[in-house]
Amino acid sequence: MLFDTHAHYDDEAFDADREAVLAAMPEKNVGLIVNPGCTVETSRQAVALAERFDHVYAAVGIHPENCGDFTDADMDILRTLAQHDKVVAIGEIGLDYYWEENPGRAWQQHVLRAQMALAEELGLPVIIHDREAHADTLAIVREFSQVKGVFHCYSGSVEDARTLLKMGWMLSFNGAVTFKNARKAPEVIAATPIERMMIETDSPYLTPVPYRGRRNDSGYVHLVAEKIAEIKHMTPQEVEQITFENGKRFFGIV
Ligand code: NI
Repeated sequence: MLFDTHAHYDDEAFDADREAVLAAMPEKNVGLIVNPGCTVETSRQAVALAERFDHVYAAVGIHPENCGDFTDADMDILRTLAQHDKVVAIGEIGLDYYWEENPGRAWQQHVLRAQMALAEELGLPVIIHDREAHADTLAIVREFSQVKGVFHCYSGSVEDARTLLKMGWMLSFNGAVTFKNARKAPEVIAATPIERMMIETDSPYLTPVPYRGRRNDSGYVHLVAEKIAEIKHMTPQEVEQITFENGKRFFGIV
């Protein structure tokens, strides 16, 4: 069975057929899915989906793109949601310096620290989004030595990957590794032990080759496993099985 450790089924791209798509996943060999929230509202929706489907779990958090008007009241809501049985992480949280219109860097850092502190308080792992903010993201996560996490859609250097692995963190890869212009990812995958990797789709985005351009869903996550297998000279079945166990261990799913 495959574990899609990062998919956004709360997204409006699934408004027409969300229930049917999720219900069909176990037949498509996808046994577990984690749906992270990106706002208070989508965190609530993630928890509601996790309540509805046995194979769906939730993470709750505020994405850096959406953190502009973050308040203490939002933090209280996240704290309450995070104590739900099916919430397995705080995420997706992080820093995103790519988009000019994103909230200011100092504010993004403040909101990331606040959510790292929440993870520490509740003993939950974190799901980190880091886009064009490698040094600052790494510096902040290092301030919280008790918190473990995963860099989702890892896009940093091999050197930073080694630092994270030494800290006990996980790296997660998605359809981006199948793109022709993916230059760094194969090198990072080659340098990362399979026991420290998870796979994901980031649905509805980043659909793997050869379906690039279509809406993504967890049914395509096997293409990520196959690409990793090719780079690491393993069978897709080995990658599937090991990343499934890695995900269960990381998120504490029994
Ligand atoms: Ni995401």
